[in-house]
Amino acid sequence: MDFYIDENDRVDGRDKVTGKAKYFAEYQVPGLTYGVLVTSTITKGKIVSLDTKSATNAPGVLAVISHLNKPSVAAYEQKEGSAFKIFYTDEIFFNGQPIAIVVADTFERATYAASLVKVGYQKAEFNTDFEKSVGNANARKLQGQPPYIRGKADAYKTAEVKIEQVYTMPIETHNPMELHGMIADWRANDQVQLYAKTQGVASTQMTISRTFNIPKENIKVNAEFVGGGFGMALKTWPLEIATVMASKQLKRPVKLVITRDQMFTMVGNRPAAHQKIGLGATKDGRITGITHIAFGQSAVYENFTEGVVNMSKFMYQSENVNTNYFVVPLDLSVPIWMRGPGEATGAFALESAIDEMAHALNMDPLEFRIKNDPEKDQVQDRPFSSKYIKEAYRLGAEKIGWKNRKSVPGSINEGNWQVGYGVSVGVFNAGRGRATVKGILKADGTLVLQSAVTDIGPGTGTGMTLIASKALDIPVDKITFELGDSSLPPAPSQGGSATLSTVGTAVSEVCAALKSTIAELAVNANMDATSNFVAVLKKNNLPTVEVTKQSNPNTEAKNYAMYSFSIHFVQVKVHQSTGMVKVSKIVSVGDSGKIVSPKTARSQMVGGAVGGLGMALMEESLLDHRYGRYINNNFADYHVPVHADVPEIDVIFIDKPDYIVNPMGAKGMGEIALIGFAGAVANAVFNATGKRIRSLPITPDKVLKA
Ligand code: MOS
Repeated sequence: MDFYIDENDRVDGRDKVTGKAKYFAEYQVPGLTYGVLVTSTITKGKIVSLDTKSATNAPGVLAVISHLNKPSVAAYEQKEGSAFKIFYTDEIFFNGQPIAIVVADTFERATYAASLVKVGYQKAEFNTDFEKSVGNANARKLQGQPPYIRGKADAYKTAEVKIEQVYTMPIETHNPMELHGMIADWRANDQVQLYAKTQGVASTQMTISRTFNIPKENIKVNAEFVGGGFGMALKTWPLEIATVMASKQLKRPVKLVITRDQMFTMVGNRPAAHQKIGLGATKDGRITGITHIAFGQSAVYENFTEGVVNMSKFMYQSENVNTNYFVVPLDLSVPIWMRGPGEATGAFALESAIDEMAHALNMDPLEFRIKNDPEKDQVQDRPFSSKYIKEAYRLGAEKIGWKNRKSVPGSINEGNWQVGYGVSVGVFNAGRGRATVKGILKADGTLVLQSAVTDIGPGTGTGMTLIASKALDIPVDKITFELGDSSLPPAPSQGGSATLSTVGTAVSEVCAALKSTIAELAVNANMDATSNFVAVLKKNNLPTVEVTKQSNPNTEAKNYAMYSFSIHFVQVKVHQSTGMVKVSKIVSVGDSGKIVSPKTARSQMVGGAVGGLGMALMEESLLDHRYGRYINNNFADYHVPVHADVPEIDVIFIDKPDYIVNPMGAKGMGEIALIGFAGAVANAVFNATGKRIRSLPITPDKVLKA
């Protein structure tokens, strides 16, 4: 072989760059057919007629399935769950709602036939305008989370210095390169093979099992490689149910890959948010009150909530804190988690307000944060399992050149550009769940590890391989980590920054068990207990030795507050005539425990910073409220950062183990990589220009107008 994997390489890097890695849509299944969805062109109302005759008669068409002729779906026959049950209703809940699937022998024929379906509607009044609804006393608002009060509510109002501001952000849409979809192959005897785009093969398996009422053992889900998820693939969507439905009816494999514009309406989004922050402090900079009232967007047919106000409860020392969170159901498709869910939204508001307060107090924003850094988690009255945030502040400040920052905004000019510095903090729960891993040591000197976890890109396989390599002193190129297959030992979905912690714990335990098994076998065979496992297996005439272990949620969770922290520093340049904002330097510091896999950890932080850059400056799903339709639902108009937008990114890790969280001492970092980033940019824009932009994204028009 002309390559090798060293400590610092991705185990699947070569497969990914050479195209050997297979994503769901690439599986070649004999007799494959192709599904294309017909979608509603109105936003709310009813389907009154659906003419499928020309579509059905079009060349190559095998089936047109709609609410008029749908096959029976067990769970949909019950009335429970989401009001939107695909093809089980004539009701329209949002524009772009899938109302029929056309299946043909080629994708092109299915696409053509789908264009022939004629739909008649009865339209109803609708509302897709979030900001307007927040301001409208009569608009429906649901409690998103119970209100929280510590000490006195709205204590900021009577503080010596107070800030009260509203921060808004638009809907953002997950736009991983890989489009969503599925290949479903419902075979004889209700045996179902699914090639899915999912963050959890077990969760997809369970959803299909429940929905179609067949044993989960009948269903095999494969998702070995996933081309990005960001949270949208944590749920099995109606379009996937439609694919399975079609395959079951046709007794043929069906592939459905949605289009880029359908990504905006069928697989969730980061909900728009409107947040009021009230902050009170003494003149010498001690916080005396925090109020955080948030509104998030949701759907009429299904509710969605997230932890928007969590961070405000514990991030800063304050006797008085009150939060409340409401959701506004609109005639739009339901949101879902998107990287740093909830916290990224809350952090933008809170960390902007913290910066505003520091400015009002004439204090350095870092000094202000340090002064109000809590010793313990005041919500649950528990110590933090680990927290090195002050060290993170110091390291990041040094790297970005914080000493060059001027406290008076608009002080630094470089020609037509104004230069500024900003900082913001991110935090996310460092949770751990339950997972099972099987380890197989082989007499040929290799180790195979198996778990039904998925890897949406962060480098799970690499991380697990490194954990095992270290634990058993086996070179990484002798270890294979098998994942993304529901028939492997069970593991949770990849999400919430918990995979390395959860599955890594099981890997650690498997390795420890394998080690003691080998030692026992060695002693039984009159060998030294520390003998090499290959020799031990050979001496015992064993081709392999296997161990399966289940890791469990952290028992210390009730004694400690366990969080990962990040701090993002940016330098921005703002063009005086055009209002264009360029992020010219980024330093992200992760307080995420011991780093298990340096290359993929760094990549996580880089990816989060790039995502944060998009959130800060570009990402915005725009609706035309006259029609309830997205108008920038493509990659030309929905802007995400490209290489030219991204400066050199410095990533620093505290790299100190937290053994309370797990035996590796590692805390998650997927979410903290992005959480807080947008606030750092907004704060830097203020420092550069004296203009406070409280509405994301910070586009040139807003900068010029401010
Ligand atoms: Mo993450 S939003 O938990 O995929």
